[in-house]
Amino acid sequence: MTVRYEPDHATEPLIDIKDLRVSLPTGERDEIDAVRGLSLVVADGERVGLVGESGSGKSVTGRALAGLLPESPRVRVRGSIRVRGHEMVGAGAEEWATIRRQRVGMVFQDPLTFLNPTMRIGTQVAESLPKAVRRDRAARDGAVHEFLELAGLENAAAVARAHPHELSGGMRQRVLIAIAIAKRPDLVLADEPTTALDATVQSRVLRTLDDTVSRMGTSLLLISHDLAVVAGMTDRVYVMYAGRIVEQGPTRRVLDAPEHPYTEALLRSVRSLSDDGSELYSIPPDLRARLREEADHAA
Ligand SMILES: Nc1ncnc2c1ncn2[C@@H]1O[C@H](COP(=O)(O)OP(=O)(O)O)[C@@H](O)[C@H]1O
Ligand SMILES: [Mg+2]
Repeated sequence: MTVRYEPDHATEPLIDIKDLRVSLPTGERDEIDAVRGLSLVVADGERVGLVGESGSGKSVTGRALAGLLPESPRVRVRGSIRVRGHEMVGAGAEEWATIRRQRVGMVFQDPLTFLNPTMRIGTQVAESLPKAVRRDRAARDGAVHEFLELAGLENAAAVARAHPHELSGGMRQRVLIAIAIAKRPDLVLADEPTTALDATVQSRVLRTLDDTVSRMGTSLLLISHDLAVVAGMTDRVYVMYAGRIVEQGPTRRVLDAPEHPYTEALLRSVRSLSDDGSELYSIPPDLRARLREEADHAA
């Protein structure tokens, strides 16, 4: 059975998470409350960031939103995750699969766990296309090449024939972007999409993600431990700490005038990264200047 969405749901917010709580087993008897009451909204066309240090619960939140938490009776999800008004907490595997097919395209950190090693790239991108396009060989190949090019892969025909291990890390990440966007999803959910790449490739892949999302008019939820990544790519940001949101607001406001000490600490760690001279992705120039000034004062 497939779930059908009625047009009147278009008035509902795309993503509306309320008081989400997730606990996961960590041993025979032990469990961890990875998410402890988190609320988050993504509207149509919005770009939203979720930042926080490693272990703060960002990926568990992202996996909960994609219906990809480990399958175990000991994994408990409470609260509410509404996708276009549909309550997904308690939904079955098929309903989640429908959401992933129709609504949410995902770009994760480790493309090799996501890609099938034995299948050609073209076949994997084609799986995102509507059935009618997939049935017609010329239409299918044309669409596959178009989405690979949109994701910044120049020799699309050769990439389509390749297997995942034949591509570089940056190219594989672009393939994930192509697969995500070929579904024409309402939301792209990107969890540390470039963390595994070196700095120059990272900023190029981020720019591609930025362009692709803009051109398709897709909403973006960008998860990163790196404030610099989120600064250049999002309009609004949530700061997560120990399973909770500690601060939220327009990205510029949060970066210019953080209200929570934890956000300040995250900003300080960005500054110490820039001290080694590495180029940061799109930190607004005035903020960069302010961070430098602060560093000078501290010295
Ligand atoms: N599958 C899992 N089983 C048990 N604990 C997990 C699992 N995934 C994550 N955790 C724990 O949940 C907490 C949050 O993890 P995660 O969401 O991955 O953090 P982040 O993405 O912010 O770095 C961490 O303490 C982590 O060890
Ligand atoms: Mg993570």
